[in-house]
Amino acid sequence: MHIKHLSLSNFRNYSTLELPLQPGVNLLVGRNGQGKTNLVEAIFYAATLNSHRVSGYLPLVKHQQDKAVMRILAGFEDRENLIELELNVSGANRTRINRSDTPRVRDVLGLVSAVIFSPEDLDIVKRDPSNRRAFIDDLLVQLTPRLAGVFSDYDRVLKQRNTLLKTSRNLPKDSPGLDTLAAWDDSLIKLGTEIIAFRQDLIKRIAAPLLSSYEAIADEKNNPSIKYKSSLTGSNIVEPEVFEEDFLVTSDREEIETQFRTKLELVKSKELERGISLVGPHRDDLVLYLGDYPAKGFVSHGESWSYALALKLASAQLLREEARAGDPILILDDVFAELDSTRRTRLANLVSDNEQVLITAAVVEDVPTELSANRIFVTAGEIVVGNA
Ligand SMILES: Nc1ncnc2c1ncn2[C@@H]1O[C@H](COP(=O)(O)OP(=O)(O)OP(=O)(O)O)[C@@H](O)[C@H]1O
Ligand SMILES: [Mg+2]
Repeated sequence: MHIKHLSLSNFRNYSTLELPLQPGVNLLVGRNGQGKTNLVEAIFYAATLNSHRVSGYLPLVKHQQDKAVMRILAGFEDRENLIELELNVSGANRTRINRSDTPRVRDVLGLVSAVIFSPEDLDIVKRDPSNRRAFIDDLLVQLTPRLAGVFSDYDRVLKQRNTLLKTSRNLPKDSPGLDTLAAWDDSLIKLGTEIIAFRQDLIKRIAAPLLSSYEAIADEKNNPSIKYKSSLTGSNIVEPEVFEEDFLVTSDREEIETQFRTKLELVKSKELERGISLVGPHRDDLVLYLGDYPAKGFVSHGESWSYALALKLASAQLLREEARAGDPILILDDVFAELDSTRRTRLANLVSDNEQVLITAAVVEDVPTELSANRIFVTAGEIVVGNA
């Protein structure tokens, strides 16, 4: 798929913007702080209902304004979709598809498909589990949009259950007052099992594209692989170290559900003591291996870059094969400045024939010439297409 036109009103530093985009490569150029990332953030938001750099949508609304509006004309084969999102500071957000209101905001998911790669993605390799959960969950929602509902239901159940655990703090686990907890347990297990099973399945499917993407981008041949570290297995629920028994082996739903229930029983007293839910997908992690060792804490800075990039290229490949929107838009935000010339060339070769590629750069010379034909100049929330 590709985006034909993007309109913004009161989004980040844009008062109003009309931006026509071409299939193929579009290079957004401008000095620091002018609004390049803001443009690609708008497109990524329409694809995932998430920003790649903040949680929540309020920072996307221009300062002192009460709503931001984005309008995207997307082309897929010979069809067109007009997607409109209104983000309101107070009151509910609204979405329209082809000028009809949608019952729920998340109904727009699946119409725009995009993969973004930016320096922040190093966090997936280097930092805490929440970065890796966000990576896999965002990809799952793009591949299977109905999961957005499962994730938001799970978050709601988790919050309610935590509240109940807090108010029942230090009650013995068989107290009569804890009947309601059992109902929340059932929902937590049902929704959590669904999330874990989907994650397990995705880890399997991404293995081959991850390997081939890493080979295509990295200098050293080394095998990347992913294992699912779960709070359902092992005895360890707080230690960050990786033990073999912490990996979830099965992807069978019934088995996952049984393990979930057993573990939940086992930790219930501890949960009541601490007032938080200790088991479930919100406590799980992906361990990214490079060869025989976990990447986190062992790999070099350059290898982290290659790893993060390979994860994103592999995501794009899965989306291309499986999502109904077809070829995802590839977004490379501020990436070329950070790569050496060998990897710049390799990346250029890998992305150049994607249906649409959006690249941001402060310095045109950092971007290989074959990617810099169609330039859009961005200055202080305004744009000029072509030669500035
Ligand atoms: N909600 C907002 N309202 C108004 N301005 C905002 C808002 N959010 C961000 N900005 C402004 O947008 C500008 C940053 O834009 P952006 O991150 O797109 O820059 P950039 O061109 O990608 O820069 P760099 O090359 O440094 O990455 C900043 O000046 C910031 O203050
Ligand atoms: Mg930027």
